Amino acid sequence: MGVTLSLLLLALMVVYLSSCYSAPIDTFVYGGCTQQRYNPSTPYESNLNSLLGSLVNSATFSAYNNLTVLSSTQSGVAYGLYQCRGDLAMPDCASCVARAVSRAGELCPATCGGAVQLDGCFVKYDNVAFVGVEDKSVVLRKCGSHSGVYDSEAVLVGLASSGGNFRVGGSGQVKGLAQCTGDLSAAECQDCVGEAVRRLRSDCAASDYGDVFLGKCYARFSTGGAHGRYYNSKAHAGRSDNEGEKTFAIIIGLLAGVALLIIFLAFLRRICEGQEHKQEFDAYKIKDDNN
Ligand SMILES: *[C@@H]1O[C@H](CO)[C@@H](O)[C@H](O)[C@H]1NC(C)=O
Repeated sequence: MGVTLSLLLLALMVVYLSSCYSAPIDTFVYGGCTQQRYNPSTPYESNLNSLLGSLVNSATFSAYNNLTVLSSTQSGVAYGLYQCRGDLAMPDCASCVARAVSRAGELCPATCGGAVQLDGCFVKYDNVAFVGVEDKSVVLRKCGSHSGVYDSEAVLVGLASSGGNFRVGGSGQVKGLAQCTGDLSAAECQDCVGEAVRRLRSDCAASDYGDVFLGKCYARFSTGGAHGRYYNSKAHAGRSDNEGEKTFAIIIGLLAGVALLIIFLAFLRRICEGQEHKQEFDAYKIKDDNN
């Protein structure tokens, strides 16, 4: 019976590890607030609240949207948009936007504008119009340690030259990712990603990872290095560009299968013996503790 428990623990561990293995969606990347604040109980406050609620709602069926909540006075008008990473499924997009909105509320209480970028989505709102305006100002620039082990050049050039609002690329252990907000035209997105990639290439070329976030787009790359970070492995599942991930998935499958088989056999034996309830409760307890 001790063996069964160990295998159950192992199975739980494997499930836990495999869920960790895909990049987190809700990880905080950056946030910012405007200096200008609004007074409580003004039309802007209620319009902003309804704007934020509508953004979260919209994220249940669309990866991008912009909204304007009109008001009888110009000072009451609220503008906002969100953009989910192009590879997120809809439920993940909505929960990410909800998380970003609540994060913005904590970070920017009573400021007129705010922006929050999580790994999986971006949310921005303000009392001045900004939707449809390209913004290449640098918001965040971060490079990993300069180990010089990985050559990200090819992946970065690929990101800059492939078209589209959401771009992924990979070569060996280097993975790249670029995303524009949906309000940019194709040409503006190209220009914005080009600028982000140019900065990555000049500043983070020999690093284990690099992040450049501009106002309306970003480009990032990551590697298998010590401080490298892999991005959403699920996003690459259909591209089979990483043998390691496939092997890992197969091993998980095999381990889980063996564990299930042994648990099932032990269960059969327990039925035959018709006792040992305590063991069963112990197993449930462990499951609860681990959830
Ligand atoms: C903003 O949203 C409206 C309505 O959904 C859409 O028609 C328009 O193209 C969007 N504008 C931009 C710049 O994305």
